Amino acid sequence: MSHALAERARQVLRANDRGGYTIPTAGLYPFQWNWDASVCALGWMTFDEPRAWQEIETLFSGMWTEQDYGGGSAGLLGHITFHQDADSYFPGPDEWGTQALRLRTSSISQPPLHATMVRWMLERAQDQGAAEAAVRRLLPRLAAHHRWWYRTRDPEGSGLVRVLHPWETGMDNSPAWDAPLAAVPATSRAYRRRDLDHVDASMRPPKAFYDRVVYLMDANREAGFDPVRMAREGRFQVNDVGIVCILQRASRDLVELALRLGDEALAGEMAAQVARTQGAVRALWSQRWQQPVSRDLLTGALLDEPTSAGLLAAYAGFDLDIAPAVRNALAQTLHGVASTRLASAAYDAPRYWRGPVWQHMNLLIARGLAECGHTDLHDRIRASSAQLFEQSGFHEYFHPETGSGLGGKDFSWTAATYLHWIAAEAA
Ligand code: GLC
Repeated sequence: MSHALAERARQVLRANDRGGYTIPTAGLYPFQWNWDASVCALGWMTFDEPRAWQEIETLFSGMWTEQDYGGGSAGLLGHITFHQDADSYFPGPDEWGTQALRLRTSSISQPPLHATMVRWMLERAQDQGAAEAAVRRLLPRLAAHHRWWYRTRDPEGSGLVRVLHPWETGMDNSPAWDAPLAAVPATSRAYRRRDLDHVDASMRPPKAFYDRVVYLMDANREAGFDPVRMAREGRFQVNDVGIVCILQRASRDLVELALRLGDEALAGEMAAQVARTQGAVRALWSQRWQQPVSRDLLTGALLDEPTSAGLLAAYAGFDLDIAPAVRNALAQTLHGVASTRLASAAYDAPRYWRGPVWQHMNLLIARGLAECGHTDLHDRIRASSAQLFEQSGFHEYFHPETGSGLGGKDFSWTAATYLHWIAAEAA
């Protein structure tokens, strides 16, 4: 751990602070992103606790309510919250059709890390009084968001929630989505991508991908954001193993937060959801890869692509032994866990979610392993991550073979992960 590097990490967060929320990086991502926000808050927590709590509260201020779009989507927390306009990103605030909201957001969500990050923040807080007051304010909103996932994304009560758009997974163009996305129509309307103004095309998804994600965005608007219609008619319906793991972990943490604040009813409600998912997850197990994978709900087929998402199974607290799969993944790169295994036919080292290493994923995967008693694996991942930070700083993602920084520069969640996991633990 170097003091200079920690100071640089704090500078990244300060420079990306837009007053109450942190953008991921200037230019490429000029708004508040959902799962980024919670990771950023972990980083802020190491040097400015009020600012850390504010990050989460600002995010939740954009959650949809009973007053929005017929009320069926109450509890939806957009994957992007548009606190102000910016024209350096497509699709920006006017593209989603959510102009009627008080605070515009996209119409899809992202991995619900929040209850877990809030619990980790509470554990680390120096000012326990302020932390408990913040958690008390956040608890009903966290509960509403979890209920939104279970109610609208698993209306059958199967125990496995679905996503309706690849961007909801946070692992946008993971090869696991290739097959279900191939069945989605391509949009015929004109649009102008802005990502290629900031980052080389070799690190970003191709046009065929964008044509389909735009189609899915427009279909949601045309359905009036009606979750019942979307769950019936959506052309992309996937049980994403990443979301299943992250929601499961967050619901366990929500049980603990609720118990701490004396809300037995909420604790019981979430514990029942956790129990249901605990049994259902076996349906996602891949014999071939010895880890859980995602499933296409429209065809019933397992998406047998072993991405880093399934390595969150320990973090989720599932009763599945993924240690051999993690060992296998670690044998392939020196930099932690690659998003797509190097042996996969779809592996593409520099391209966004088809190869690169993300530091916050290293953190989540490693923490889960440590909690299951695999401290050796945790320590290996943490040591490679620490080395990668020293070598390449705070890029968006990293080349799994060389460790060079890729994507956006001065990236908030990368800096925040360093502060929380490396700098603060070494201090
Ligand atoms: C990309 C990532 C997504 C992230 C966003 C902002 O879209 O795929 O996971 O939230 O960038 O960092």
